[in-house]
Amino acid sequence: MREMLEKIRNQALDSIRDAKQSDDLEAIRVKYLGKKGELTQILRGMGKLSPEERPVMGQLANKVRGDIESELSSKVREIEEMALAKRLREESIDVTLPGKRPSLGGLHPLTTVLNLITDVFLGMGFNVAEGPEVELDYYNFEALNIPRNHPARDTQDTFYINQNILLRTHTSPTQIRVMEKQSPPIKIIVPGRVYRSDAVDATHSPIFHQIEGLVVDENITMGDLKGVLDVFAKRMFGEKTRTRFRPHHFPFTEPSAEMDVSCVTCEGTGCRICSNTGWIEILGAGMVHPKVLEYGKIDPNRYSGFAFGMGLDRIANQIYGIDDIRLLYENDIRFLSQF
Ligand code: PHE
Repeated sequence: MREMLEKIRNQALDSIRDAKQSDDLEAIRVKYLGKKGELTQILRGMGKLSPEERPVMGQLANKVRGDIESELSSKVREIEEMALAKRLREESIDVTLPGKRPSLGGLHPLTTVLNLITDVFLGMGFNVAEGPEVELDYYNFEALNIPRNHPARDTQDTFYINQNILLRTHTSPTQIRVMEKQSPPIKIIVPGRVYRSDAVDATHSPIFHQIEGLVVDENITMGDLKGVLDVFAKRMFGEKTRTRFRPHHFPFTEPSAEMDVSCVTCEGTGCRICSNTGWIEILGAGMVHPKVLEYGKIDPNRYSGFAFGMGLDRIANQIYGIDDIRLLYENDIRFLSQF
């Protein structure tokens, strides 16, 4: 019996050492220690032994069981540790890899330039007003002294919703809307989007932006107009900037003028950007026509005023040296991220 016990122990320990997974170990446990297992069978046969042999063999059998059990449990632990090590190896993350930086947006160049212009006028005591982009014919033309069938309408062809409603062709209608509501002194700028049915090219877009200005008070003269706009030009384009006013015609101002600034790129000596003239036209202006004051319910005998309207897109292009207006509207991130 001693030999049998030794043999069982050696076989059991050998197969435990060879086991590869926990299922194998369970099978070994059942084979030797289970209810019908080899060691259990032997213990059942103890009764047949002599009283002297019984305790000796009993002790040996218990020892064999203990050896098998402890070998089993250390092998279980070994297999679990190997499985864990394998998972850790396979699921490891390289924390030294650089992360993905979230990309931050920025302001569109038109917004940046509008903010600059607004700051200059706020600094001179102006307020900001706004008006609707879908406008009545009355405010866009009629009240600005451009009656139906007037030839001046041809230069500002637009998109009509119906006979009386259209997309505004300029920010000037807001002049009337403000005058109707507010009595002088009035000192406002009106930034906004405007529309004209122009074909798209390097200098034209059916949607563009203007900034209107309106000042109405007692004793406002053309000198005030020139002074304010000259200061604006110097703040905006640099102290060396010169301005010049050329006579022009707008139905809603009298007299009217266009203002040029000395070319920012060549400082007035002439270059490609200014078509070798040294000057860039940036706005239309004039003294508010008495009829327009009347449409705005303001007494032209007591008050006078000046107004101007400038193209935001053109000014942005001047400041950044952009030579094609379409770039401002294509929303190409490679273009926009330069500003
Ligand atoms: N509204 C004119 C235009 O779009 C500009 C302008 C505004 C001229 C105010 C004079 C006074 O061309």
